Amino acid sequence: MNIILLGPPGAGKGTQAKRLEERYGIAQISTGDMLRGEVAAGSAIGRKAKAIMEAGELVPDEIIIAMLSARIARPDCTSGFILDGFPRTVPQAEALDVMLGEHGLTLSAVIELKVDDAALIERIAGRFTCAACGAGYHDVFKPPKTPGRCDVCGGTAFTRRADDNRETVTARLAAYHRQTAPILPYYAAQGRLHSVDGMAGIEAVTAAVEGVLDRLEVGVTEK
Ligand code: AP5
Repeated sequence: MNIILLGPPGAGKGTQAKRLEERYGIAQISTGDMLRGEVAAGSAIGRKAKAIMEAGELVPDEIIIAMLSARIARPDCTSGFILDGFPRTVPQAEALDVMLGEHGLTLSAVIELKVDDAALIERIAGRFTCAACGAGYHDVFKPPKTPGRCDVCGGTAFTRRADDNRETVTARLAAYHRQTAPILPYYAAQGRLHSVDGMAGIEAVTAAVEGVLDRLEVGVTEK
């Protein structure tokens, strides 16, 4: 099963992708996480991407397409993958179709998480992650069960992303509406687009996404 999770910043792509990864045993591929890894490593890609990401703009297509093409060729993608944050432009969507064709793969579904812009700012402003294991939390919607202690690894240090501030979020939302939303009709025309109410709670969104996949009977590799 190869799926795309589409939606604006803070829509819940990463949250849902991790749940699908666990349920179906397929790889989560987050181009945002990959880029943050490059920035942290100080690589050539990271040095180019850092300022662009901090401004809330999109990294150039050729960098992202090369990165993604190498990633889906890795062995953990053989049972399938969830693309979280890719494609984000029409040229990226077109390049993905070519890549899938070259690897003999097909796209099972494109799932759009629909969330109002006002809710996104609140979600992003409250987001933090465990510095040790990367588990994601939210001040209001998903706090750790024991305050100050990670549910997964027990870590006590947490981090917030450099681009999770009000000004950058506004720029990221503008980039979404200008450059990413135009790929919705691209996938609708292919008959692959399914929209889910991303304003619902985390559990309800997971149930809706799994409902789509079950109806399409693409969850056959379920673990
Ligand atoms: P990226 O890392 O992809 O960020 P994003 O798309 O802005 O998405 P986020 O990670 O902010 O949000 P999300 O939808 O995953 O939400 P989450 O699950 O965390 O990209 C960062 C940057 O990298 C881009 O701006 C760009 O510069 C660059 N980039 C990346 N890919 C690129 C590409 N393909 N091309 C060019 N540039 C690229 O949820 C958010 C919060 O809300 C969490 O705290 C969560 O707990 C909470 N939450 C989630 N679901 C719910 C719910 N249903 N109800 C209540 N709270 C919820």
